[in-house]
Amino acid sequence: MITTPKYTRDLLPAEFSNDTSAQVHRFQFIEERARDLFRRYGFKEIRTPIFEHTELFARGVGTETDIVSKEMYTWKDINGDSLTLRPENTASVIRAYIQHKMWGQAETVKLFYVGPQFRRERGQKGRFRQFYQIGAEVIGNSDNPAIDAECIEMIMQLVADVGIGNAELRLNSVGDAESRPRFAEMIRRELAPKISSMCGDCQRRYETNPLRILDCKLDHEVVAGLPSTLDLLTDDARQHFETVCRYLDARGISYKIDSRLVRGLDYYTKTVFEVVSGSLGSQNALLGGGRYDGLSKELGGPAAKGFGFALGLDRFAMTIPENSGDQGNPDLYIAHLGAAAFERALVLVQGLRKKGIAAAVDFETRSLKSSMKLADKLKARYVLILGESELASGQWALRSMKDSSQSTISAENWLEEITNLVGAEEAV
Ligand code: HAM
Repeated sequence: MITTPKYTRDLLPAEFSNDTSAQVHRFQFIEERARDLFRRYGFKEIRTPIFEHTELFARGVGTETDIVSKEMYTWKDINGDSLTLRPENTASVIRAYIQHKMWGQAETVKLFYVGPQFRRERGQKGRFRQFYQIGAEVIGNSDNPAIDAECIEMIMQLVADVGIGNAELRLNSVGDAESRPRFAEMIRRELAPKISSMCGDCQRRYETNPLRILDCKLDHEVVAGLPSTLDLLTDDARQHFETVCRYLDARGISYKIDSRLVRGLDYYTKTVFEVVSGSLGSQNALLGGGRYDGLSKELGGPAAKGFGFALGLDRFAMTIPENSGDQGNPDLYIAHLGAAAFERALVLVQGLRKKGIAAAVDFETRSLKSSMKLADKLKARYVLILGESELASGQWALRSMKDSSQSTISAENWLEEITNLVGAEEAV
């Protein structure tokens, strides 16, 4: 049997998956809530290719990061180009911003995306090699802290909208271009006596990119003893951070300042944040993001500033309440008895579907008992019973599967009566 590659999975209709976190309607529910919310905040959708030139991620995300150094799916195309399945979407959005000269058309560009990302990580609960993100980016001339606060407000609203209750917002500033050498100098000074006890990666990072050491999972204890980088921020970066905090306070959004939070991507400047959930286990980040004021320039574009985030849809799907989302089961199932009823049923479902009702009919002839069993299995809300006597009398029986109550539908006015009872919105 050919199965999905390691640490990838199928997302399935609920009836085919006992693993609720892999049920596709939960993903759809989160996506719908996000689309609706983002629209209200003025974001428009962008869809970028699933693969890009490798250089985009090497330059954008940073060659020292785990993502670029260990986790990318990269191959040589027949013409010699090095291509990579996108491990994240921010670099692609900025590439598109530059390629389509968006800065010439709008002072502030607000874009969101929904789609799969690929990282060759070791799989575990909440960590996959193909996973799904919803993200949003604000790009433009301004680095006003109000942008940071509004984006954080929006994502915290989404967390609440989908019913996640136990989420914690963690906030930090990784400073500006002038703060970074101060961070690097402090980390090198403090860690100089401990180099030999650090992991191989960190020994290299000590030389190339000391800030990355803060993100190391292995050298946790070494890192824990370091002074806070927040004390080393330039005046400008500190003021920016304090203003973001003040704007969040004014909105009643609570957060925890975590000076060790550096995130796994190199493009960040100033504000960085993550939202974690206690119910997720070790892969507890529901989402992450921050400011990246140097990325556009790094990728050959204008000196545009940016702020954004991406949430892990797989992790959201694991965390939302049990009954979230609509499984897409039929509003109404027609139990037909006899050849004439079957032919009538085929036309009735067409009319109902045009009216926006999810109507189901089975193509086999079966007894009423077996039809009711099937309706139950399909989780239909109502069953319309159509036999020879119903056809003859013009009085049809509509049974509610919830409480077994029965109503009569008249053949002349069936569409209106059923539509009213089933209560579905008219689509036409
Ligand atoms: P990230 O922190 O690498 O940031 O990923 C964002 C979220 O994607 C994580 O918090 C997590 O929920 C989810 N995620 C990441 N890797 C996996 C995985 N292997 N399996 C399941 N879920 C995963 C970014 O990707 C940035 N582009 C975010 C951003 C946008 N920053 C600014 N704008």
